Amino acid sequence: MQTAVITGATSGIGYATADALLKKGFHVLIIGRTMHNTLQALSSLREAYPHASINGFYGDLMQQDEVHRVADEIIAYLQTHTEGALSVLINNAGAVRTWYTTTLDGIEQQFALNHLAGFLLTHRLMRSLRLGHGRMILTSSASHKHCRIRFDDIMYQRRRYSCLGAYKQTKLCNVLFAEEYNRRFASEGLRAYAVDPGLVNTEIGFKQTGGLVKLVWALRKAQGVPAEKSARTFAMLATAQPAETNLYYYDCKPVAYDRHAFSGDAPQLLFDLSQRLCGITTFGGERL
Ligand SMILES: NC(=O)c1ccc[n+]([C@@H]2O[C@H](COP(=O)([O-])OP(=O)(O)OC[C@H]3O[C@@H](n4cnc5c(N)ncnc54)[C@H](OP(=O)(O)O)[C@@H]3O)[C@@H](O)[C@H]2O)c1
Repeated sequence: MQTAVITGATSGIGYATADALLKKGFHVLIIGRTMHNTLQALSSLREAYPHASINGFYGDLMQQDEVHRVADEIIAYLQTHTEGALSVLINNAGAVRTWYTTTLDGIEQQFALNHLAGFLLTHRLMRSLRLGHGRMILTSSASHKHCRIRFDDIMYQRRRYSCLGAYKQTKLCNVLFAEEYNRRFASEGLRAYAVDPGLVNTEIGFKQTGGLVKLVWALRKAQGVPAEKSARTFAMLATAQPAETNLYYYDCKPVAYDRHAFSGDAPQLLFDLSQRLCGITTFGGERL
């Protein structure tokens, strides 16, 4: 049985993806932010799939100590249940912040969760991905287009904070991370993808945001597709045999992404910066 780990799986796209992978017979490990939301999601998934293999973990993935704790728990779990192997890691947890706020590590919160949390969790689970010849999928967005990474001020410490600007930049980070990951690890049989889920009717814009963001999101989300529709792309990438070979997918098909964003050495620069911010010296450790 193949095993998948999904972050942000207590609602929206992550929950629908957990559902889709359970339907396909995966052993699914969901990660939520709080114990309450994780138990609630586990209970409804177990009700829908009483014979499925499913388990839950939780932690505030904006905080690097929490990513490490959750990673330790998952690695221990995988060692007992799958001889350490992981087939699919889906870095999906994401949030929007109206105002400039930082984590305990001093990192701007959207950047901390939408990019660095997935980067650090992937690093921690690389041995398991290697053992499982695994795939890593990032939930990006079409909003990464026409955006640039400002390497001199990636966390908006000097510029006026822009909620949307900071969000778009993190979604571009997802694409750049997938690109650089493939450049480094595809030769080992590992592969990363970035998914544009489209505009999806979820509650993301209502969580810890201000009145204007809530208002805009209320209007936008009404035009969004159900999360189950976007989950199909994740399920397709998780199960495709042989593995899909393109980078960026929408609606189960490879589509164009913003190649201007790749001018120069942006993927490498982001990778190096992310390693420094996470205190990593060798991403993923040694080959098996
Ligand atoms: N909805 C769209 O139209 C759209 C479009 C493009 C991309 N996306 C991306 O899709 C992903 C999922 O978003 P969604 O729309 O499905 O929204 P969502 O339902 O709010 O899902 C976000 C998930 O991330 C979790 N999360 C939030 N903060 C966390 C933290 N600090 N630590 C751990 N987990 C945390 C949430 O848990 P709680 O509910 O407990 O906070 C929830 O399970 C995000 O990366 C988002 O950027 C969404």
